[in-house]
Amino acid sequence: MILIFLGPPGSGKGTQAKRLTAKKNWPQLSTGDMFRANIAQKTPMGLAAKKFMDDGQLVPDEVVIGMIKARIEDPDCANGFIFDGFPRTIPQAEALDSMLAAKGLKVDRAIEFKIDDSELVGRLSGRRTCTKCGTMYHVITMPTKVDGVCDKCGGSVVQRDDDHESVIAKRLNVYHAQTAPLVAFYAGQGKLKTLDAIQPMDMVFEALQKAI
Ligand code: AP5
Repeated sequence: MILIFLGPPGSGKGTQAKRLTAKKNWPQLSTGDMFRANIAQKTPMGLAAKKFMDDGQLVPDEVVIGMIKARIEDPDCANGFIFDGFPRTIPQAEALDSMLAAKGLKVDRAIEFKIDDSELVGRLSGRRTCTKCGTMYHVITMPTKVDGVCDKCGGSVVQRDDDHESVIAKRLNVYHAQTAPLVAFYAGQGKLKTLDAIQPMDMVFEALQKAI
């Protein structure tokens, strides 16, 4: 099963991908997480990507496509995978179709997480993430027991550099201009399923499982 999670920043793609990975064992291929890992390791790719990410812009297509092409060759991808945040432009989607076709594979479903922008600023500006295990918290709806310390692993829990309000607005604009056209792209292929992402997380997960 090859799935694409499509939706604006904060719509819950990462939250639901983690749940589905835990249940089905399909790895979550989050291009954002891959870039953040490269940034933490100070690789040349990470340093180049950081400039775009901190400004709320997309990393250039050729960088993202090359990274994904290498990742899907890993042995854990043999039984399927979940793209979380990829593709994000029409050229990325076309490149994905070609690279999968070369392996005799195809996208099975594109899941759209549909939600109004007005809901997203609060979700993102309150989000905090563990730098060690990636567990997500929210300062109001899901705070850590001890401020800044992960309940699960004791790692440090911080705000992402791109979760400040000025950058969030830019990310939403970029989503509508460059990524939202993918909804029509996958609808045209007959692969689109749309979820109401404003519902509580458990209900979104239920709808997701029905959609796949
Ligand atoms: P990336 O890391 O992919 O960020 P994003 O797509 O903007 O998505 P987020 O991780 O912010 O949100 P999400 O939808 O996963 O929501 P989450 O589950 O975390 O990308 C970051 C940057 O990297 C990009 O801006 C770009 O620069 C670059 N990049 C990445 N991929 C790229 C690509 N393909 N091409 C070019 N550049 C690329 O949830 C958010 C919050 O809401 C959490 O606090 C969560 O607890 C809460 N929440 C989740 N679900 C619910 C719910 N149902 N109800 C209430 N709260 C909820």
